[in-house]
Amino acid sequence: MATAIAKAEDRVSVEHEYAARLGHVSKSFNGPAGPQLVLDDITLDVAPGEFVTLLGASGCGKSTLLNLVAGLDRPTAGSIETPGGRPALMFQEHALFPWLTAGKNIELALKLRGVPKGARRQEAERLLELVRLGGAFRKRVHELSGGMRQRVAMARALAQDSRLLLMDEPFAALDAITRDVLHDELTRIWRETNVSVLFVTHNVREAVRLAQRVVLLSSRPGRVAREWTVDIDQPRRIEDTAVAELSVEITEELRGEIRRHGQH
Ligand SMILES: Nc1ncnc2c1ncn2[C@@H]1O[C@H](COP(=O)(O)OP(=O)(O)O)[C@@H](O)[C@H]1O
Ligand SMILES: [Mg+2]
Repeated sequence: MATAIAKAEDRVSVEHEYAARLGHVSKSFNGPAGPQLVLDDITLDVAPGEFVTLLGASGCGKSTLLNLVAGLDRPTAGSIETPGGRPALMFQEHALFPWLTAGKNIELALKLRGVPKGARRQEAERLLELVRLGGAFRKRVHELSGGMRQRVAMARALAQDSRLLLMDEPFAALDAITRDVLHDELTRIWRETNVSVLFVTHNVREAVRLAQRVVLLSSRPGRVAREWTVDIDQPRRIEDTAVAELSVEITEELRGEIRRHGQH
């Protein structure tokens, strides 16, 4: 039987010039006082295999932007291209089905992707191993800790075998130690699978810990305020001096953005 999952190296030849391309994207919502501009003229590329964090104050439009890239909503103006196919999406809430085991949650994602029945079990187990949850196949969601649930959610996102992983504050509800461990895991998985990641957070240290590039969004409306290339070797630690120094610089800029718009 042909392998259900193509390995990352087999796919290099079909890799596109970019994983996501946003051109002059704007988004308005209709409010009581008329249309409210939430995102204004966002132009941004994510390169194949690149890890980008999108950083901004709460309410600045990060989730709105990610939903647009995911194809869950449409921009009011501008274009969004994800030539590698439908992106995978992971949220702060794990959104696992509680009546299914960890393994069955992943098998369901494989089924939706069209993986043949006979190959699903083995592939679900491989994905659980990848997130270091081998042996948890039969565990139900309520038996898992918050960190373990997010690992299963990560495995389920990876089960979509997408070339672009969109993550919306996936670790925001976890305690600092668990989050730290999951940062390490995500960095490892990103390097092993060569997937492109667009990761949304309001946490500056997290943005710097993870990304090759940090894009700062302004508030009301969200615009690309500034971006930084993070030239620090991986794996990093959140407490590394270089991570701390860049975080201080970015925090200053973020504070300026928040002050400018009189929020919080
Ligand atoms: N479906 C919607 N209808 C109306 N307003 C929305 C909708 N979704 C988001 N908004 C508004 O857009 C702004 C940005 O929200 P969001 O993208 O969730 O911000 P963030 O994720 O950065 O915290 C907020 O003011 C929010 O109220
Ligand atoms: Mg959000």
